[in-house]
Amino acid sequence: MYLLLASLLAGTTLAAPAASLATCDRDFLKTQTDAYIAAQAAGSTSDLQTSSGKFVYTQNFKNASLSTGILATPLKIDHNRSTYDTTACASFTELIITDSKNPHVIGTQLHFTDGALTLMETIVTSTGDWLFNPAGTLKYASQEKWDPIPEAKRNTRAVIQAAADAYLDLFNDKSVKVPWGNPCARLEGGSYVQPSCNVGVPSGIKQTNRRYVIDEVLGSCDVFFDFAGVDPDSHEFRVEDGKLRYVHTMTVMK
Ligand SMILES: *[C@@H]1O[C@H](CO)[C@@H](O)[C@H](O)[C@H]1NC(C)=O
Ligand SMILES: *[C@@H]1O[C@H](CO)[C@@H](O)[C@H](O)[C@H]1NC(C)=O
Repeated sequence: MYLLLASLLAGTTLAAPAASLATCDRDFLKTQTDAYIAAQAAGSTSDLQTSSGKFVYTQNFKNASLSTGILATPLKIDHNRSTYDTTACASFTELIITDSKNPHVIGTQLHFTDGALTLMETIVTSTGDWLFNPAGTLKYASQEKWDPIPEAKRNTRAVIQAAADAYLDLFNDKSVKVPWGNPCARLEGGSYVQPSCNVGVPSGIKQTNRRYVIDEVLGSCDVFFDFAGVDPDSHEFRVEDGKLRYVHTMTVMK
């Protein structure tokens, strides 16, 4: 009896992760981000398949409803770029909308559990937010290369996340060693800081409550966090050869 129970339990624990891993590859995540981008373009959530169980949606880090949030408004999207975290089964999408009637720069993390969309968090920046200027964001974002990194040159998740964390830790601890790239460019709202990113980083600020989407193929790490423990913020990093190449920021001013 004991042996039977033990083998049943062993079977269950082995089968569960295998089943969920099988559903989460880049194709799956790309299909999901395509559906999300199409939903935002149409201003309709009818084709978005959210989990039939627990589903949480936040807009600027407050619980919100899909039907009354930004997704209910059709937006003319000039630029979209997504990254895929097949380990955590999550994605990040950057959207730039220069349309003067409704200008936005939007960052969205999708998180899946057993193949179902269980958490969607979106940061919606608009006029009045930190250095908001979508024409500038579009201009500089379109010049950058976020191509897949050749397999032999890819960094591990740990290295990519450590580079992102070092940058965010620097705000509170000037002794942190940040793997600066040379060149490195920071797209902060619509302003572009280059060829060094090691300028204008303030001090005495704790960046808390970090949520990550890491893509080894693209060398990227997006982090959602509370800027100074207060403002909804996204910092997305591109890491090449272990060093920071690009930083994209979105900060909602409360
Ligand atoms: C949103 O609601 C969920 C419960 O559905 C809760 O766990 C979470 O803390 C809430 N988040 C915020 C930002 O209020
Ligand atoms: C998203 O960007 C790709 C190019 O990267 C483009 O082919 C596609 O049409 C865009 N989608 C929307 C809805 O704008």
